[in-house]
Amino acid sequence: MKMAVNIGGATIKNPVMTASGTYGYGDVYTELCDVTRLGAVVTKGVTLEPAQGNPPPRGCETASGMLNAIGLQNVGVAAFIAEKLPPLRERGVACVVNVQGSSITEFVAVSQKLTGIDGVTALELNVSCPNKTGGLSFGTDPKALNTLVTAVRKATPLPLMTKLSPNVTDITVCARAAVDGGTDSLSVMNTVIGMAVNLGDPSRGIRPRPVLRNVTGGLSGPAIKPVALRMVWQVVQAVDVPVIGIGGIASATDALEFLAVGASAVQIGTASFYNPRACEEVVDGIAAYMTEHTVADINDLIGTFEIPWTAT
Ligand SMILES: Cc1cc2nc3c(=O)[nH]c(=O)nc-3n(C[C@H](O)[C@H](O)[C@H](O)COP(=O)(O)O)c2cc1C
Repeated sequence: MKMAVNIGGATIKNPVMTASGTYGYGDVYTELCDVTRLGAVVTKGVTLEPAQGNPPPRGCETASGMLNAIGLQNVGVAAFIAEKLPPLRERGVACVVNVQGSSITEFVAVSQKLTGIDGVTALELNVSCPNKTGGLSFGTDPKALNTLVTAVRKATPLPLMTKLSPNVTDITVCARAAVDGGTDSLSVMNTVIGMAVNLGDPSRGIRPRPVLRNVTGGLSGPAIKPVALRMVWQVVQAVDVPVIGIGGIASATDALEFLAVGASAVQIGTASFYNPRACEEVVDGIAAYMTEHTVADINDLIGTFEIPWTAT
């Protein structure tokens, strides 16, 4: 049975990866999950300098999902290379480094520092951070996105994944902007901006207030799966690069749905919080499905979705 997939120049042994920010640097679930069985570990977003992230409260549960406003908390690129990458490299785990920055210069600098480092399989650009110069998010401004991807493309030969924001009117415009800038693949999607309210206690004069210190946060988990499926399907039809499906995937069935609409691989995020073995279970579940349906090569499942009726 062949489960390997090629994601824009990076070959990984199966299509199941962890989603950035939900698995640390591959070090958080070592007792509970065998990371060597995964296609790749995608790290928490790495910036040039270490960062604390936002003040608490910065996460809460919602119906069928969660909201988070962790921010940029990470060890910084130097400590990542010195301390976090070697254990993955020694165990032969493919590592995709999620790159974050608040300027193009920072994205380029982090990408350059990771270039030529043994054990870095690919870079994933998290373009949903505020662009300090324009006050806009790279991920919601196609022009800024194109400029960013073009600059990083020039700075590194590493396979480049660009992680798109769903918080836009038409995700295909951003997808094309990133592809025109030279990205090798697209990750679809990041979290959906949401908020939660604490009603307080009017009898004691405590007015309703935000649950998160940041007021808004990113919604993830099963609640966003239909949105993610729709966006992956749209992006697959709009561009010619591989697409990685992300959003609410918790089971092999979920993952297979993303592969069917054209994703070449998937990432699993929030599900790992309530089931640390979710990624391994998805690998096993896909393999079981392939056996049951006599599929010899996973690539034969990708993009098999069809609409069996004509438009009226
Ligand atoms: C706590 C938390 C931290 C996250 N941190 C990052 C991050 O650093 N970089 C990034 O690109 N995405 C980050 N994400 C987004 C996830 O990688 C993923 O795109 C999103 O959660 C949707 O997938 P899911 O529904 O499977 O969780 C984070 C998500 C969560 C829940």
